[in-house]
Order: sequence, then C-alpha cells, then structure tokens
Amino acid sequence: SNRIMLGPLVAAIDQGTSSTRFLVFNAKTAELLSHHQVEIKQSFPKEGWVEEDPKEILQSVYECMDRTCEKLTQLNIDISNIKAIGVTNQRETTLVWDKETGEPLYNSYLLLYSPESNIQIIPDLFGCLVWLDLRTQSTVERLINKTPGRNKNHLKTGLPISTYFSAVKLRWLMDNVEKVHEAVLSHRAMFGTVDSWLIWCLTGGKKGGVHCTDVTNASRTMLFNIHTMDWDPELCKYFDIPMEILPKVRSSSEIYGLMVSCLGDQSAALVGQMCFKDGQAKNTYGTGCFLLKNVGTKGSVAIAGAVVRWLKDNLGIIQTSTELEELAADVGTSYGCYFVPAFSGLYAPYWEPSARGIICGLTQFTNRSHLAFAALEAVCFQTREILDAMNQDSGIHLSQLQVDGGMTSNRLLMQLQADILCIPVVKPSMPETTALGAAMAAGAAEGVSVWSLTPEDLTEVTSEKFEPQINPEESELRYARWKKAVQRAMNWET
Ligand code: G3P
Repeated sequence: SNRIMLGPLVAAIDQGTSSTRFLVFNAKTAELLSHHQVEIKQSFPKEGWVEEDPKEILQSVYECMDRTCEKLTQLNIDISNIKAIGVTNQRETTLVWDKETGEPLYNSYLLLYSPESNIQIIPDLFGCLVWLDLRTQSTVERLINKTPGRNKNHLKTGLPISTYFSAVKLRWLMDNVEKVHEAVLSHRAMFGTVDSWLIWCLTGGKKGGVHCTDVTNASRTMLFNIHTMDWDPELCKYFDIPMEILPKVRSSSEIYGLMVSCLGDQSAALVGQMCFKDGQAKNTYGTGCFLLKNVGTKGSVAIAGAVVRWLKDNLGIIQTSTELEELAADVGTSYGCYFVPAFSGLYAPYWEPSARGIICGLTQFTNRSHLAFAALEAVCFQTREILDAMNQDSGIHLSQLQVDGGMTSNRLLMQLQADILCIPVVKPSMPETTALGAAMAAGAAEGVSVWSLTPEDLTEVTSEKFEPQINPEESELRYARWKKAVQRAMNWET
C-alpha cells in the first residue's frame, strides 16, 4: 500500500572469513538500504589448521538473506525490486563436494589423543580448508625445491608457490580424504572455492546447479593461466588435478543462474572503491589485509582483523573488538613493544611460511594497552611493507590510500595508518565497498543502470580523510624497528 518507490535495487552476498553478510543497495544512489550479518565458526583442530563448515556457510547465507528481506519489508521496501545479486567471497578457501548427493566431502574423523581415554575420536565436520591453513607446508616446500625461483608456473599464474592458494589444498584433500579420492575416481567430485559452492547451491544444487567460478577467484587457485584466462592443462598436470572436477570459468559481471553473478572479495572492493583507472589502489582491513592496485602487483597480509579475534579469544584482554581501540587509545603508544602476528607465516612481501608470531621489546612497564596498540600498529606496518613494494615495482608513489573493511571503523587505526604511511588515508562513509562492488557488477550484468561515481566523487562527497600527524623521522624509526622484529619472526623453526 504505502510502499516506498525506490526503483531497481541490487544486492550482494558477502561471504568473508569471519562472517557472512547480505546487503541491499539502491541502484541509483548506492545507498545501503538494509543488511544482516552472521558470524562464522572457525575450527583449529591442529596447530596451523584452519577449517570452516560449508553447510554452516550456506545456512548463514540463507539466514542473512531472510533477515535482510524481513528488514526491508518492515521498511516498506518492495523486495521484488532486487534485480541482481552479486556473490563476493573469501578467496582461495577450498572444498570438494559430491555432485550426486550435494554433500561436502570431508566429513572424516580426526583422531586426537587425550591422557584420560588415550584416544578420542572427534567428528570433523569442517569441510573447507581456509586460505590461512598451513597443513600443506611440507608439500609446498617439496614443490619449491622441485621448481625453484621465478619459474614457468609463476609466469603463468602470477603467484608464488604457497600454502595460501587452492591447488595445494585440493591436492591435500585428494591425498588425505578417502571420500574425496573415491569421488574423484567415480567422477562425482566437484571442486570449488566458496563462490562456486554457494552459486552451485543457490542455482539448484544436485538438481542442476551451475558449477562455475569467475576469473578473479580462479586466478587465486594456481591452476589458472592469467594470459589465456582459463584453466591451464599443464598446471593441472603439475598438481595432478583432473580438469573435469574444476568449475567453468566465467566473467565477473555475468548472470550465471537466477540473478547471480560473482567476484572475489578483494576485486569487488576495488570496484566498490571505483578504482577503475590505472594506478588507483585500495586496502581492505578484513580478517587479513589486502592491498590491490588496478594493473599492478597485489599484496596480502594474512593477519589483520584476525589479530583482534586472537586478543579476544586466546588472550582474553578484550571482550569485544571495539574495546581494542579504547584500550590502545588509553596509552597512545606501544612503548617500544612490537608484535609480529605471523600466525600463518608471513605473506607479502616475504612469503615465508615458516615465520611465527613474536612479541618483543617488553619491559616491566608494558601492559595490555601497549600490547593492544602494538597489535594495531602491526596492521599498519604490514600495509606499509606492501605499499613500499608496490611503489618500488611501479616507480609511482601513491599519494593517498583508499581504505575499507570492518577495521576501518577503528579511527585510531586509521590515524596510525596515515602516520606510518606518511600519506593521507581516505575512508568512504559507506564502508561496505566489497559488497557494493559485487552488487554493481551483478547489476551491470542484469542491465540495471548502475551509478557512475568516481573515486573523486567519493573523496569529496562522502569520505573521511586522515592526515599524517607525526613527523616522518619518527615514523621511519618505528618502521625500522618493526622490520627488525620481522627478521626475528622469520625462519622460526630453522
Ligand atoms: O584471500 C583471502 C581474502 O579473500 C579473505 O578476505 O575479508 O575474509 O579477510 P576477508
């Protein structure tokens, strides 16, 4: 009756490492109309292992969609105006499922020893190997020894051989999970990253779901040739992976099934930040930190938001993530304490899987506030390392950094980032740029005229700018100490 007339709407499923979200935007103004978020459980069954449950991920998507639609209806917004849904996702996270039963294939049992019962069987229901997972480290070392340096594979994929990417995780599943092995032999196995799993389920699952992925996700598997823009037979042979289990590679702005299109989360954020021109860059502070530049190197930091979760869940020095900012602001300095959260080794620019986390520079005076500050500073130093590497590669110095992601609501972090980079940090007032990018790509594929904002518009109209406030000498000094701490975290086991 008194429904609000807004015109076409576009939506996005944003399936991240720590949580799932569903968001609905007005296609004409990019205004976020409603959203819902559900946290995802992570399992760490052994040191270095990180798993998630594909069924829980799927359920969380349904729940977020239902709740968002309820909220829209309460706002008198007609949900039938949603014209397209973009999927954007944590990349590299790997799973295999059975196309006949629709079940993820890793419901094996994990044997754990306990002093009382001697042996304990824990049902292992977590079918996804998360991008952070390190169980493939020995395989990776073997491969690096076999093919050292900047080899042919590197030229094809643009990626270093690392535990990070999907091919080695898929290899592990095929070698270690009987059900996966059997399903591959009997031609019932489907491999996918989270995008493929969700799209297959959302487009009908075992009753004819579409088994596909997009180029941005495919490019993070190590099986995709970035020059031919398709799966590479030689790479598949190298990892001994049958090509029939791979999803079809499609473009990122194309309708695959009912209303759905897809884009890896970091590429989606690049679109959402309107970085369409050569040289424009953005940094997203999620579970990790991901700096991407349009046409250029890209860099990933494994641990960003995850350090906050660690301080909360493992040390218990904060109860909620937001407390971290207050705690750190109490002191406003790390008092010479440096925290290298190399929980999953170090990613760009070091690519050192054997690195481990360290906290150094402690004195009798150090307290939890200093530690909180050092954790935030670590996120900023890691970003600086990647930006330096990018600047060096391109010879062009970025004059400001566009940022987004959950952690950007931490204003202390944003100020610290500007101080440590010695350039301004610009944050759009609508931080959900990943979802916005995915919704834009989906809308464009559905012929919904999507707004034509530019980064300049975002900067002038709706953003907050953090200017560096400390002098460059002090910034350099702190950065130099950080680098010393990183050296101590490297090669921990050797
Ligand atoms: O490469 C992993 C990345 O895509 C995960 O992003 O937002 O879940 O930290 P996020």
